Amino acid sequence: MTVSAAFASDNAAPVHPAVLDALIGANADPVSAYGKDPYTEHATQRLRDLFASPDAEVLFALTGTAANVIALSAATRPWHEILCSDIAHALLDEAGGPVRISGAQLTRLPSDDGLIDPAELERRVARRGDVHHSHPSIVTITQSTENGRVWTASRLREFVDRAHELDLLVHIDGARIANAIAALDLDPAEAIADADVVTVGGTKNGQMFGDAVLVRRPERFDGIRFVQKQIGQLASKQRFVAAQFEAMLTDGLWLQTAAHANTMAARLSRGLTAMGLRLAAPTEANEVFVQLDPAARERISGYAVHQPDALSPVFRLVCSWATTEEQVSDVLQRLRG
Ligand SMILES: Cc1ncc(COP(=O)(O)O)c(C=O)c1O
Repeated sequence: MTVSAAFASDNAAPVHPAVLDALIGANADPVSAYGKDPYTEHATQRLRDLFASPDAEVLFALTGTAANVIALSAATRPWHEILCSDIAHALLDEAGGPVRISGAQLTRLPSDDGLIDPAELERRVARRGDVHHSHPSIVTITQSTENGRVWTASRLREFVDRAHELDLLVHIDGARIANAIAALDLDPAEAIADADVVTVGGTKNGQMFGDAVLVRRPERFDGIRFVQKQIGQLASKQRFVAAQFEAMLTDGLWLQTAAHANTMAARLSRGLTAMGLRLAAPTEANEVFVQLDPAARERISGYAVHQPDALSPVFRLVCSWATTEEQVSDVLQRLRG
């Protein structure tokens, strides 16, 4: 039986045709390597403009993990502590990359589906200054979170302001930031509050590959370009990453694709609840988490779906720019049996 990857992950989605066209367009002539090309210049400027960050440094990486590692490592020294939620991708799904490259400790904070209460920050920084404990210097949060939740603008602003009062830098893992921005229907700059560094995902939202690092306070990320180079993320042919961003960021395409993914997830979510199935988290962006008993899972055995925890009956179904209404109807119909 052929198993469909339609809901397996937004990473499983095909590449958007506009991105393929942009790659072909960028293939015409020789241009300078290692980011000294016009594509990088244009994409950099677009990201600065969109996020109202005129002084930001922009770096490009090939994967979301690399983008996180670059941002977190440049902000920390080996005796520092990186705070994150208990479900952070950087903690659970990057094979310890941020810890290995930064040398800093990664500490999990309790959260509500990845949304952290600012009081948790206060608890951690209370011990700062004691040589026996590592020094909390940055907190990383995810927008939208690993459980598909979205930080509202006010909640995010409050969190970032509190972190800054506590002398913590703020990193946003924005692997799915387009989905969050589309869900909030906000200006992108508002969806990142005053965060110090943001990784802007491209791979899950129509690109072939490539995530950007928007460094909004470059003076606090000394050496970041050396980290990028050391971990092999300064692509000599960076134009092909930048051209993809340029294509997606033109005429709001990145938010249209993200909004479509969110709409499909909302449709799926409504269908699941209508048949009495229990969602494990509210559907706020493009990921749906639903409890399935073995019989229900068997009914959709034709679909590869991720089970985040082998001991829990919760399954994740992800929609992308390419998800169709027919696919959503099909999975719902199969579940109805
Ligand atoms: C929240 C989040 N951050 C970062 C990443 C890393 O992306 P990549 O797999 O491209 O390294 C992912 C990928 O699933 C993710 O879900």
